[in-house]
Amino acid sequence: MTTPLALKHVSHGFMGNNGQWTPALRNVSLKLPRSTFTCLIGPSGCGKSTLLRIAAGLLQPDSGEVVFEGQTLKQPRRDISIVFQRDNLMPWRTVFHNIVLPLQLAGMDPDEQYDRARYWIDIAGLRGFENSYPAELSGGMAQRVAIARGLITQPDLLLLDEPFGALDALTREAMWQELLRIWQTTQSTVLMVTHSIREAILLSDRVLVMSQRPGHIIHSFNVPFGRPRLLELLTDPDFNELESQVRRSIEM
Ligand SMILES: Nc1ncnc2c1ncn2[C@@H]1O[C@H](COP(=O)(O)OP(=O)(O)OP(=O)(O)O)[C@@H](O)[C@H]1O
Ligand SMILES: [Mg+2]
Repeated sequence: MTTPLALKHVSHGFMGNNGQWTPALRNVSLKLPRSTFTCLIGPSGCGKSTLLRIAAGLLQPDSGEVVFEGQTLKQPRRDISIVFQRDNLMPWRTVFHNIVLPLQLAGMDPDEQYDRARYWIDIAGLRGFENSYPAELSGGMAQRVAIARGLITQPDLLLLDEPFGALDALTREAMWQELLRIWQTTQSTVLMVTHSIREAILLSDRVLVMSQRPGHIIHSFNVPFGRPRLLELLTDPDFNELESQVRRSIEM
């Protein structure tokens, strides 16, 4: 199977304001098979967001290489979308104008921009809020705007950083179903960071576990359950067994 994205021996650190050097990632290698869904899980501060920013081309690693579609990734690209841990919406733009932004930047025909934005507003359950501003939305709605904005370009690679962190349990479950449905139609390759082991197993084909900082991949679990996946899977004994295995593998 071909690989849209590979990280090869990637290490990265930060110089803090206090002049102290913090190594965030150490020797991370991974390959994402095309059109698969991978979740990344690990302790807080272990470098997950840093890894996603490197995979998006927003940050150049100190050492190692990121290869996207066979070429070294040097900068952000339109066919890679990232949804940040904090929703990152533009407060002066309405819901509609936040969602349509990537298409405007790509110079798409305005009629097509409009049609696509309408489609994603419906999918994200935001109809009726097109003209609202981010400050008028709940945390979960803002997150759905950010997800719609990430998906509207139908990226080949979708990077999601705890996209459901701000949602209540019920909305979260609804968004899992939505994301799986959408993903099955787009065939994007997805790499998603989450703190929820259950979420990781329910959504993904493979769960990668990172060590404490400086983060590197210490375990990889294949998720054997077929698709489409329904919420009933959460109570399946095999699901619970895999959940315990993943939990035991995480360094606290
Ligand atoms: N821009 C930055 N400047 C300085 N240090 C940074 C910067 N970004 C991240 N770090 C440091 O790098 C380490 C990894 O941070 P990162 O945000 O990648 O962790 P994370 O795994 O996403 O954590 P969380 O689960 O809490 O979101 C942390 O020690 C953090 O303080
Ligand atoms: Mg993070």
